[in-house]
Amino acid sequence: MSEPLDLAAFPPHFTWGTATSAYQIEGAVTEDGRGPSIWDTFSHTPGKVDNDDHGDVACDHYHRWPEDIALMRRLGTAAYRMSIAWPRVLPAGDGPVNAAGLDFYDRLVDGLLDAGITPNITLYHWDLPQALQDRGGWTSRDTAEHLAAYASVVAGRLGDRVTQWATLNEPLCSGWIGHLEGRMAPGLTDLTAAVHASYHLLLGHGLAARAIRAAAPGARIGLVTNHSTVEAASTRPEDVAAATRMDGHTNRWWLDPVHGRGFPADMRELYGVDLPERPGDPETIAAPLDWHGLNYYFPVTVEDDPHGPVPHAREVHPAGLPRTGMDWPVDAGGLETFLLRLTDDYGVRSLYVTENGSAFSDTVRPDGTVDDPERARYLEQHLAACARALRKGAPLAGYYAWSLLDNFEWAYGYDKRFGLVHVDYTTQRRTIKTSGHRYADLIRAHRRLHT
Ligand code: IFM
Repeated sequence: MSEPLDLAAFPPHFTWGTATSAYQIEGAVTEDGRGPSIWDTFSHTPGKVDNDDHGDVACDHYHRWPEDIALMRRLGTAAYRMSIAWPRVLPAGDGPVNAAGLDFYDRLVDGLLDAGITPNITLYHWDLPQALQDRGGWTSRDTAEHLAAYASVVAGRLGDRVTQWATLNEPLCSGWIGHLEGRMAPGLTDLTAAVHASYHLLLGHGLAARAIRAAAPGARIGLVTNHSTVEAASTRPEDVAAATRMDGHTNRWWLDPVHGRGFPADMRELYGVDLPERPGDPETIAAPLDWHGLNYYFPVTVEDDPHGPVPHAREVHPAGLPRTGMDWPVDAGGLETFLLRLTDDYGVRSLYVTENGSAFSDTVRPDGTVDDPERARYLEQHLAACARALRKGAPLAGYYAWSLLDNFEWAYGYDKRFGLVHVDYTTQRRTIKTSGHRYADLIRAHRRLHT
């Protein structure tokens, strides 16, 4: 049994939303002048994605967005976190703007606003234009500059209607998983490339934040990072040290520089890679932000792994925690802990949970319904963690459930379903799951408290 949700802890104007990203739902990858991205390349490389799935059609959101907005209305969500496909707007990454690509997002934003739903736009959710990858991608400083130029184009067009902006989604995944572990595009396994990419991602974030502010005065700008609480598997000093390294790799490397502390010295020493620093970069990377977005899914427990890859810490499965379809342990307490760490340790003054959710293998029942009690429970437990963090002073202003729809789960393809809404990929039929109905009930109940 889940604990009852303390809805009164959520402030009256708390933002209830759902989230998606462009490549995971849009499809239409060759339509209206869109250029290829690194994920088109990666997913079409045999063996990189489960079942060799790709995003060519995905949820066909490019054509079905009015239906998807109607679903948001049925859920009662007042906000929608979405990303823009950089290669739709600038097919070569820089150079000429593709008017048809920008027009698509213009219509989508108007459609959301007409439905009373506030868009929260992420500029970069991993779909780098392939043409920029061919020139070095994130290992090149130029890509950071190109991100800022792209940000300026998009904010210049949509900034009269969109106030909530995020520069990057989960730079950890682009940096570490894409360049060190090779499990995501561009699929490199090179520590120097990974450290340089991580540096340029954060530099690009700072440059893009500045560009959005210039193009759209009044914009509220944030960065979205993903984190896990990290615990040592035992009290052995080696395991405790491994947990410190994993925390540096997963959390501090991404948070310290944007909060003015620079890149952590212990991790710089561990990686042993010179940063491509130039004077003024630390200030750019630490550009003041209006909010911080936390993506939280699972906690991490590690033991020392002296001969393994950096950070020489191996994840172990703690006993007693349930697991999702991703094999991720479930511990909502980690969300509360991390919200309070951002509040108390990093001094964040406005916070959003920009993603949180779970994958399970859902099926449509003969009566046409989709019952997903485990996801509903996960949702309730994590909202309860938000409520506890709020009671303890976290300045949490909103929660975006990942995800509105089942979608292309990157290297796992379509088998991992995170949606509050089920998608039948053969017919593109959408069905709100039990968890979606539960979320709608909670949102309605919260609204009733304040009317
Ligand atoms: O699907 C992803 C999303 O693109 C980024 N955050 C984690 C989600 C689940 O893995």
